[in-house]
Amino acid sequence: MRMTAEQKQASPARLKRWPGLIEHYRSFLPIAPGAKVVTLCEGNTPLVESPMLAERLGRGVKLYLKCEGANPTASFKDRGMTVALTKALNEGARAVICASTGNTAASAAAYAARAGLKAFVLVPKGAIALGKLSQSVMHGARVVEVIGNFDICLKMVRDLVERDPVKIRLVNSINPDRIAGQKTAAFEICDQLDNAPNYHFLPVGNAGNITAYWVGYKEYREHGFIDALPKMMGYQAANAAPIVLGRPLDDPRTVATAIRIGNPASWKQALQVREESQGTIDVVSDAEILAAYRLAALHGIFVEPASAAALAGALKFSAQNGLKPGSVVVCTLTGHGLKDPDTALKNLTNSIVVEPDVERILKLLEGEQ
Ligand code: F0G
Repeated sequence: MRMTAEQKQASPARLKRWPGLIEHYRSFLPIAPGAKVVTLCEGNTPLVESPMLAERLGRGVKLYLKCEGANPTASFKDRGMTVALTKALNEGARAVICASTGNTAASAAAYAARAGLKAFVLVPKGAIALGKLSQSVMHGARVVEVIGNFDICLKMVRDLVERDPVKIRLVNSINPDRIAGQKTAAFEICDQLDNAPNYHFLPVGNAGNITAYWVGYKEYREHGFIDALPKMMGYQAANAAPIVLGRPLDDPRTVATAIRIGNPASWKQALQVREESQGTIDVVSDAEILAAYRLAALHGIFVEPASAAALAGALKFSAQNGLKPGSVVVCTLTGHGLKDPDTALKNLTNSIVVEPDVERILKLLEGEQ
């Protein structure tokens, strides 16, 4: 016999359907009542505690990983894109356009497909990870591979939109709707921890995400959901670190292609976040990024190299005795490792090719016990 509705509600085993972040956090978002919501049920991503990685940080620190690769297109960009595409659709845009190191393009392509709008994505030719490119292609975006880097692509889309501001909507993070959506990650972390963390580590590329998190934390404090704010700890790759160096770079380079950016759009905001939160913006080398990339994967969490910059930053900061004992640390792992299979396979050292010979494989197993 089926339970009554009340009995079902009361059962601890019942999951509630997650409606996507716009429905869940609607009162915090600039969405008009009655708007048609463009969603793929993004958000509500896992906050995974990692006691083993926390041990590497020492000092009784608790470490939580915000796994944004669990979003529909496997990166945090979906949070901003649900809001940006909802606004674009309801305000009569015909198409969206963005410059991207790959993830923004993949997300814009998917949400535009969902909304029934056309997407144009400008990406630096040969410099974006394979998984991301395949997403943009599959979701039906017009992929424009530009012979030039991300900064050139961004300048071009800004110019293009200026010529046709009505029908084509820019969906890079200079669009405030993107920031509004992305701030919900901070809400979720506070909801999941029942407070704000003491430190929040994340990679910095165009600096939209660090800006969005800070907006989110401040809003939650204004509402009285949390009583303190975290220190925001942003990390750039060492040879793609214009904010740390204090000057734009013409030719940024890093294995973390997602954050290979020489002139971040939200540069000023990032400096403000650093100041207001008394945090830091620092660098991690590609070697540190790859070490953290492997470390996270060996603890069951496969992220793309840019995301590993957050963990690399936490490891670096703790090694410099920066973390307060007993503090709560969150690292945002911005994108899934499957985005960039090439980098993963270049790091492959544990695969061997054998004939289908049980004895041979048995020896191998015994040798590795
Ligand atoms: N991590 C990943 C996986 C990213 O894709 C990005 C940015 C960042 C971190 C940095 O975030 O730019 O807000 O500081 N990717 C953009 C893109 C630039 O085009 O996909 P940010």
